Amino acid sequence: MSHNHLILFNIMMMNANIFLCITLFLLIINPALSLPLCTNSKAPLTPKTPLLFCNYNGSSCCDSTDDSNIKKQFDSLNISQPACASLLKSILCSRCDPFSADLFTTRPVAPHVPVLCNSSVSNDNSFCEKVWDTCQNVSIKYSPFSSSNSSNKLSDIWPSGSEFCNVIGGPRVNDSVCFDGEKVSLTITTNSTKSVPTGMCLEKIANGSYLDMVTHTDGSNRAFFSNQKGQIWLATIPEFGSGRGLDLDESNPFLDLTDEVHFDTQFGLMSIALHPNFAQNGRFFASFNCDKTQTPSCAGRCACNSDVNCDPSKLGSDTPAQPCQYQSVVAEYSANVTSSSRASVITKASPVEVRRIFTMGLPFTSHHAGQILFGPDGYLYFMMGDGGAGDPYNFAQNKKSLLGKIMRFDVDNIPSESEVTSLGLWGNYSIPSDNPYTEDNDLLPEIWALGLQNPWRCSFDSERPSYFMCGDVGQNEYEEVNTITKNGNYGWRVYEGTTVYTPERTPGGNTSASSINPIFSVMGYKHSDVNKNEGSASITGGFFYRSITDPCLQGSYLFGDLYAHNMWAGVETPVNSGNFTTSGITFGCAKDSPVPCDLVPGSEIPALGYLFSFGQDNNKDVYLLTSSGVYRVVPPSRCGYTCAYETRTAGSGTPAPTSPSGSGANALKDSCTSLLLLLLLFIGLSF
Ligand SMILES: *[C@@H]1O[C@H](CO)[C@@H](O)[C@H](O)[C@H]1NC(C)=O
Ligand SMILES: *[C@@H]1O[C@H](CO)[C@@H](O)[C@H](O)[C@H]1NC(C)=O
Ligand SMILES: *[C@@H]1O[C@H](CO)[C@@H](O)[C@H](O)[C@H]1NC(C)=O
Ligand SMILES: *[C@@H]1O[C@H](CO)[C@@H](O)[C@H](O)[C@H]1NC(C)=O
Ligand SMILES: *[C@@H]1O[C@H](CO)[C@@H](O)[C@H](O)[C@H]1NC(C)=O
Ligand SMILES: *[C@@H]1O[C@H](CO)[C@@H](O)[C@H](O)[C@H]1NC(C)=O
Ligand SMILES: *[C@@H]1O[C@H](CO)[C@@H](O)[C@H](O)[C@H]1NC(C)=O
Ligand SMILES: *[C@@H]1O[C@H](CO)[C@@H](O)[C@H](O)[C@H]1NC(C)=O
Ligand SMILES: *[C@@H]1O[C@H](CO)[C@@H](O)[C@H](O)[C@H]1NC(C)=O
Ligand SMILES: *[C@@H]1O[C@H](CO)[C@@H](O)[C@H](O)[C@H]1NC(C)=O
Ligand SMILES: *[C@@H]1O[C@H](CO)[C@@H](O)[C@H](O)[C@H]1NC(C)=O
Ligand SMILES: *[C@@H]1O[C@H](CO)[C@@H](O)[C@H](O)[C@H]1NC(C)=O
Repeated sequence: MSHNHLILFNIMMMNANIFLCITLFLLIINPALSLPLCTNSKAPLTPKTPLLFCNYNGSSCCDSTDDSNIKKQFDSLNISQPACASLLKSILCSRCDPFSADLFTTRPVAPHVPVLCNSSVSNDNSFCEKVWDTCQNVSIKYSPFSSSNSSNKLSDIWPSGSEFCNVIGGPRVNDSVCFDGEKVSLTITTNSTKSVPTGMCLEKIANGSYLDMVTHTDGSNRAFFSNQKGQIWLATIPEFGSGRGLDLDESNPFLDLTDEVHFDTQFGLMSIALHPNFAQNGRFFASFNCDKTQTPSCAGRCACNSDVNCDPSKLGSDTPAQPCQYQSVVAEYSANVTSSSRASVITKASPVEVRRIFTMGLPFTSHHAGQILFGPDGYLYFMMGDGGAGDPYNFAQNKKSLLGKIMRFDVDNIPSESEVTSLGLWGNYSIPSDNPYTEDNDLLPEIWALGLQNPWRCSFDSERPSYFMCGDVGQNEYEEVNTITKNGNYGWRVYEGTTVYTPERTPGGNTSASSINPIFSVMGYKHSDVNKNEGSASITGGFFYRSITDPCLQGSYLFGDLYAHNMWAGVETPVNSGNFTTSGITFGCAKDSPVPCDLVPGSEIPALGYLFSFGQDNNKDVYLLTSSGVYRVVPPSRCGYTCAYETRTAGSGTPAPTSPSGSGANALKDSCTSLLLLLLLFIGLSF
């Protein structure tokens, strides 16, 4: 190939990449159904007082203020023709629909009108045509269909109904919703027999005990495993059916932080996260606890302080020897990627901390969750418990406290030292411009969601970015799985589950139930439902299962109890409704497991020990990290379970690309991700 041809070829490849990226991009902004979600990316709530104008009782994206604003807008349209007026009212009120985020798509023409159902269902008179037929000659002042105020009849803007519907209409198909004059309702499209997994088959691939697992961002079959003591390893995941275990060299960690980490029952290296561009920039993050009496660099501001009416010297029970002796830290490290040494081939990182992202002193010794996770928006989410002891200071509901919260940081724009100080930040990060404090000035700017007790293990659904699920540990009765949304209040410690909680000590006062609008959990279990041989119950949140390995688990949200005698699958009915049915699932160990499983005496159940976390690899295969080892979900037939959808090839799995440099497809995925994030930031969209 000549030099010129080569350039041409490269340009063609670039164009092909851009084309693929744009296709991917369109797929993402396509009004694909995602949870009941409002246009402001918040969850719909039931207003405290029923709406007077719009007919959206129950769950709604409007409160009374929105409702009266819509009434004013409607009145200003001054429509004389009653049939058309009634249609326009329903169109304006559709902003209150619990699915308004899906109804209102970003389109340049008529951004204030939902997608009107077009004739795509047989014999169904399309709502869009009905609007055209009824309203085409009617004068509408300040028409929401037009960006200009001058043309106020639909027929002034569009020559025909079909042209109107081509722009304003949209089909009602499997994966998108449209407005037909009524509250959006979903139909069950999945095969219900498919939604009952009979059992989950596991194979054991390692004996080691790990707390967190994150897959390599280069698309390869490698993942990082960290233990509670403070070590991180880079390991190669075996192919299905290879008979091999996890290739992890205990004596050769990727990074060893044991000197900095304070390790005790609820303390340690809690979580690790790779920057989305780790393969290019080598940036990664660790969340751990430290002891300020041991490590000088450890001390940060105490979470118990005068801002939140908490006096560290009067904390009371369950406090360590010194107030805020133990800290929660997020620190950045580097795999030292240079042009000659890409992260893909690097097997070690420097123990020198590049940057301190966050430090906060903890009031008590428990409930300081600690997971860090990059969202599909490229921001770093940080899960924080209420600090423990039954939250006597009511931190989880206190908008000036970071305890009992999910935080959201921008770690790509690091402010200067002086800005960090003047802004009163807890470390080196900046605040994403759409964090909820912009709408609720009482909130600390770091807060994304509140009212959590101890969010232990969260994940984003790899297929639907708006599904951000967290297991939230309960107190005495109920363990929760929550769907986390912007500024969502998950109720703790006003509620435990849906029951009003009675605190033992309340030196920090109470929040009244009438003053909050909590979002209740979508899945969960009662303590009385589980086998509590080894202690009380504590949830470990998992993943939406998206692998082809076990087709009967596909689309289910998997979670379990720390004490590991119970595992559940949540099936969403109907799909995309946010409404889940939870069933307990049995689990077994494959007879040909690479590392033989120990069984609970007198049973066929593998003795997992404590279920610390779930993990997911680049093929979306799911792992269980337990005190007895690492387990992977394998084809159900390997345990003798029947799954009608399992084929002979399924679960041999698509082997992940083994080349450490990643395949072309993965390189493409990486560049797409950057482009997508750029585009999303540019158009100000957030998931
Ligand atoms: C809510 O609206 C539905 C349908 O319009 C109606 O049947 C129901 O009675 C209403 N409920 C309340 C509490 O107003
Ligand atoms: C509303 O429309 C009527 C005619 O249908 C007109 O007489 C009246 O002035 C209009 N009101 C406003 C405020 O534009
Ligand atoms: C609207 O006006 C057009 C053209 O003048 C006419 O053909 C049509 O029947 C009218 N429609 C209604 C509903 O009045
Ligand atoms: C249309 O009218 C509204 C309300 O009076 C006004 O705020 C807006 O600027 C006008 N838009 C145009 C393009 O004239
Ligand atoms: C709406 O339906 C018409 C036929 O009734 C069709 O020609 C048009 O393509 C459809 N538009 C959309 C956006 O679905
Ligand atoms: C809708 O789902 C059905 C059955 O799953 C499928 O055959 C059809 O192609 C889907 N339609 C669209 C437009 O995706
Ligand atoms: C639903 O499941 C039944 C039983 O497994 C199967 O016979 C049928 O083909 C399935 N239907 C679809 C649409 O997948
Ligand atoms: C796992 O532990 C068992 C004993 O508990 C031992 O026999 C086996 O060799 C170990 N396997 C690996 C891969 O370390
Ligand atoms: C990173 O690697 C380069 C060369 O590969 C080396 O010169 C430099 O000292 C390394 N930096 C750190 C912090 O290890
Ligand atoms: C910001 O990072 C630097 C380098 O790690 C560190 O010295 C400094 O203390 C950090 N600032 C805060 C507020 O944590
Ligand atoms: C908080 O509420 C509990 C009952 O739930 C009550 O016993 C306690 O006195 C209240 N504390 C304060 C400070 O109001
Ligand atoms: C939620 O699912 C249950 C069954 O699993 C069903 O009875 C109920 O109607 C569903 N609720 C909604 C709002 O779809």
